[in-house]
Amino acid sequence: MKILAIDTSCDETSVAVTEGLKILSNIIWSQASQQAQFGGVMPSLAQRLHEERIDWVINKALRQAQCKLNDVEAVAVTEGPGLAIALGVGIKKAKELSSELKVPLMGVNHIEGHLLSSLASPFTSPLHPSPDSGEGNFRDVKFPVLGLVVSGGHTELVLIKEIGKYEILARTSDDALGEALDKAARMLGLGYPGGAILEKMARGGDIKAYPLPMPMAQSEIKNSFSYSGLKTAMYRLVEKTKIDDKQVICDLAASFQNRAFGHLDRVINQSIRAGELKSVSSLLVGGGVAANMELRKRLRKLGKELGLKIRFPYSLKLCGDNAGMIGVAAGLRMSSFAKASEDLTKIDRKPRWKINEV
Ligand code: KG4
Ligand code: ZN
Repeated sequence: MKILAIDTSCDETSVAVTEGLKILSNIIWSQASQQAQFGGVMPSLAQRLHEERIDWVINKALRQAQCKLNDVEAVAVTEGPGLAIALGVGIKKAKELSSELKVPLMGVNHIEGHLLSSLASPFTSPLHPSPDSGEGNFRDVKFPVLGLVVSGGHTELVLIKEIGKYEILARTSDDALGEALDKAARMLGLGYPGGAILEKMARGGDIKAYPLPMPMAQSEIKNSFSYSGLKTAMYRLVEKTKIDDKQVICDLAASFQNRAFGHLDRVINQSIRAGELKSVSSLLVGGGVAANMELRKRLRKLGKELGLKIRFPYSLKLCGDNAGMIGVAAGLRMSSFAKASEDLTKIDRKPRWKINEV
């Protein structure tokens, strides 16, 4: 079934065409350069830019998938979580398309999209050779599996009992990992969003150059991640450090990233060991921070220790916000159990929708 999927949950206008687990096209128009001057995402600007661009992005996604509007058999759209007025733009457009084409509409949870993004596989044809890294093919998945979402708004370790049945094993009690990396990057004058540039700087830095505390080092298993203490320690450290050359920034970036990932590792390790999850053999990783190569290295190492196969999305484009993952999640839901809604009034914005409430 060919699905046209839309995601306008934050500052990316994205439209994809998917078929089962295959991504036929996945267009992302980022507002990052327009939003950068505000040091974050301004919801009213996000809404206006989504409205201006959505038709263009839809047409490009259809063209790239070599698909006509009439070939679309279902529409999927992110209902939440996200910025309410930004979500509204995608939902309105999805409802219009669904009515016009007389095809069902399915509302998808954005975090579920990230959670299942590593199940996607690339479109292959003699004309479009596969960029497959060998990590995206997931025909061999056997539930239950574990999932880890590391994005700008969420840090969640989830037990995926089956598609649509999720239990949160650990979540952040304050900042999300991506948010913490963004804040550290901002303290170092690296701009917003700063996770990727922080990673680049950290590559040239020494993780031992500056002392930063390991979050919750003394505490027992709490099934929660916490980044606010580390953030405050970083703030104090940056305040008293003379930043007079690039090496200092690289060292600070490396120290912060090392601690942030070390804490992630530790909580995942503890939660999995405490959860007696012996039958679980894989961990699916998704979200913007999953693009980080140092994090991938650490998770693979942890996977070896715990006997878990670690899966990442087949392309970096599938880590950040994109509609491809929404189409794939919708396809999996429809093939597993869910009926797409014929009643469009049931699809609505859900800015705080949690993964265990889908
Ligand atoms: O999943 P995403 O695109 O949006 C949300 O749903 O939040 O995640 C965005 C987050 C930002 O915090 C960004 O700094 C971070 O992902 N990010 C990275 C990298 N690329 C994006 N963090 C670390 N290393 C990267 N290479
Ligand atoms: Zn996201």
